[in-house]
Amino acid sequence: MKPVRKAVLPVAGLGTRVLPGSKTVPKELLNVVDRPILSYIVAEGRAAGIEHFVFVTGRGKNAIEDYFDHHIELEAQLQAKGKTALLAEIVGELPKPGEMSFVRQMQPHGLGHAVWCARDIVGDEPFAVMLPDMLMEGPVAPLKQAIDAQAKVGGNIIVVEPCPPGEAHKYGVVALDGAGGRLNKMTGMVEKPPKGTEPSNLFISGRYVLQPEIFAILADQERGAGNEIQLTDAMATLMKSQAFHALEYEGTTYDCGDKIGLLRANVAFALKRTDLGGDARAAVLDLLK
Ligand code: UTP
Repeated sequence: MKPVRKAVLPVAGLGTRVLPGSKTVPKELLNVVDRPILSYIVAEGRAAGIEHFVFVTGRGKNAIEDYFDHHIELEAQLQAKGKTALLAEIVGELPKPGEMSFVRQMQPHGLGHAVWCARDIVGDEPFAVMLPDMLMEGPVAPLKQAIDAQAKVGGNIIVVEPCPPGEAHKYGVVALDGAGGRLNKMTGMVEKPPKGTEPSNLFISGRYVLQPEIFAILADQERGAGNEIQLTDAMATLMKSQAFHALEYEGTTYDCGDKIGLLRANVAFALKRTDLGGDARAAVLDLLK
């Protein structure tokens, strides 16, 4: 079985739910405390053993490439001022030469289309997809939980989690063959099922391990919900010939593509910081008075 070495990060969406901030700053670069959402996502990927990140970008997203590059003037100034810890932090997350690729999705035709744009860089090996607006944390990096599950059962893995009661019709939802623990064979999946027809309350939450055969299916470019090329539809087709397991991962997800999700992430991550937690708690309590 080939190892999972590459992760595709689709970052070409317009981020309309967090406008106007995302008009000129890619939503994936909005801050959670003091670093962009993407910084956490790349750290999670590295903790899962990812060796190559493939960003699917679009117009107005060039700042993402710049973020993962040297900023010579800034680095020189931090050095001159003796801010060595901050300098080390900034330089420390830069990619090794060749660790990142950028490919352009010229029109936002949907998540499936964005993933398909990475086909030549991924090639013929299993790969991960990380939705970069879903900030996920756990006792073990969530993507590592998925890759470990894939090493156990093979095929394709979709990370899922329970959605709030009565909300399943808003999500991509999975159908399971029984329910034995956190890792279960899937029998189906559906994007935004009409209310009352949801096969479970487990939604597809933003991490996947997929086999490369998905690309040939995406190449057909069939449009689904919202007239977009949906990854869920392509996975449902692949499921006719390959096994899919749903992994209910251990951890917490913050949907940073949404105003309240982004706010929650900022508060939660600030409260957990050893250097900021006390002040953050005092600030929150003060606001709640
Ligand atoms: P979303 O639907 O959450 O992102 O897609 P969006 O379109 O930017 O968000 P809103 O609804 O307008 O606020 C999930 C992920 O897929 C990427 C997005 O960038 C996001 O990270 N995506 C989506 C693409 O790269 N291309 C697309 O055509 C659609």
